[in-house]
Amino acid sequence: MNLTSRKKIYVTRELLPEAMEILKSKFKIEVWHGETPPPKSLLLEKVKEVDGIICVLTEKFDKEVIEAAGPQLRGICQVAVGFDNIDVEAATKKGIYVTNTPGVLTETTADFAFALLMATARRVAEADKYVKSGQWNVPWGLTMLLGQDVYGKTIGIIGIGRIGSAVARRAKGFNMRILYYDVFRNEQIEKELGAEFTSLENLLKESDFVTIHVPLMPETYHLMNEERLRLMKRTACLINTSRGPVVDEKALYKALKEKWIWAAGLDVWEKEPVDPDNPLLKLDNVTAAPHIASGSIATRTKMSVMAAENMIAILEGRVPPNLVNKEVLKVRPPTK
Ligand code: GLV
Repeated sequence: MNLTSRKKIYVTRELLPEAMEILKSKFKIEVWHGETPPPKSLLLEKVKEVDGIICVLTEKFDKEVIEAAGPQLRGICQVAVGFDNIDVEAATKKGIYVTNTPGVLTETTADFAFALLMATARRVAEADKYVKSGQWNVPWGLTMLLGQDVYGKTIGIIGIGRIGSAVARRAKGFNMRILYYDVFRNEQIEKELGAEFTSLENLLKESDFVTIHVPLMPETYHLMNEERLRLMKRTACLINTSRGPVVDEKALYKALKEKWIWAAGLDVWEKEPVDPDNPLLKLDNVTAAPHIASGSIATRTKMSVMAAENMIAILEGRVPPNLVNKEVLKVRPPTK
């Protein structure tokens, strides 16, 4: 193909090498190499110039950015399963295909949710700090850094989609009683694992571990508010690997500081990167991570390749495998 006739792609963050190679072989690509995400002013320019954008969750494609897009922009391909950073409704109206990367990150994310659950229960981060900072200068004692048991306890899963179900399978291996709450029942997981469908209130009251696996939507914003946190056991841990704003951090701080709950494991934050002054970071009963639940080399490679394949499909005039806004097909049918 003649280089000048190649479609132009803007990539807002260097993808894993395999995906970059695929894209380079097909398109003229420009990559943002800044340490912080590309500024909105730049996105406003790029949407007027390029045929496709590959992005990550730090880029806000709000109504203003989407509406500024020129008619040549046909796809925004997100390298993540969540896509709350993209105004999908506005994109649909403009005939812009939006895709995500579901499935490939399920097990890796569930691994991390469980790792965070274990680390929070058994105070792994505190223990690491204790030893490395030389605080372990007293003889071993029976009450040193005591944690909570995991095996045989009750886990409450909020959101029993792909990732929530994968967490449930891990919990089964730990002989846990599995409660779940969702807007839909998941009879398959009930049959497979003996999981019990219950109300959110009951789940919060009965669980030793509450783990969140819902997308961020207006309905899930601050789902874990003060009132709900107060329903949890004093010995319970809250684990969040979904999206930060699903938990009201101010209320969570109060809950942890005043010990109405025992601990929290947080991979996601209301504001990312998390503010160094965020009071949650000062608490020993918070195990913190920088939004890395899907972060294994293999999975991030698969996610990157999936986004690249979605982009290729869109620009080659096919329906992309992971189209989020199916209604867009009526606005702009696939075209070469
Ligand atoms: C990561 O947070 C994702 O949504 O894939």
